[in-house]
Amino acid sequence: MNKDLREILITEDKIRETVGALAKRINADYAGKQLILMIILKGSAVFSTDLMRMLDMDIMIDFMQVSSYGAGSVSGELVIKKDCENDVNGKNVLIVEDIIDSGNTLASLRSLLEERGANVEICAFLSKPDRRETEVSAKYIGMEIPDEFVVGYGLDYAEMYRNLPYVGILKREVYEK
Ligand code: IMP
Ligand code: MG
Repeated sequence: MNKDLREILITEDKIRETVGALAKRINADYAGKQLILMIILKGSAVFSTDLMRMLDMDIMIDFMQVSSYGAGSVSGELVIKKDCENDVNGKNVLIVEDIIDSGNTLASLRSLLEERGANVEICAFLSKPDRRETEVSAKYIGMEIPDEFVVGYGLDYAEMYRNLPYVGILKREVYEK
């Protein structure tokens, strides 16, 4: 285990099982349809590559990088750092995200893509329901986790730890120092 972690929350085996279960549901729901995976950088870079290789419908992938101001400030205002390349009007779009925390980012992103005419659903590997500020309906959630700061499997702290093959809880002293 990485020395900065307090414990491993989700093992590699559990990750495989979780992604497999998500893929099974998505394959059933989109059978015979076309789907654009809207991969949200950078956190879902790892999750999305595992997920897409388990999907068997016609897939296109695209990327966006976004952040949002909190609901407390300018409500859910979305900052687009990198926009997607596809015209999503009339398309099935599945937003692939690493984790839903406050929900602010995804709620705004979902609205934006719907305004562009897409038929949008959300697939998040993790969700922290206790942290929600903005309700966002995510059809596919891999696992719900407690309110702890986690890293690994794409998730970072200060851009580090994304490469860990498991998800772990970061020691408090790492981010409080
Ligand atoms: P929110 O749902 O708008 O609050 O923001 C979600 C984003 O915050 C995610 O895409 C992550 O980049 C980041 N995030 C939230 N919780 C964690 C965590 O526990 N570890 C790493 N990144 C996190
Ligand atoms: Mg992040």
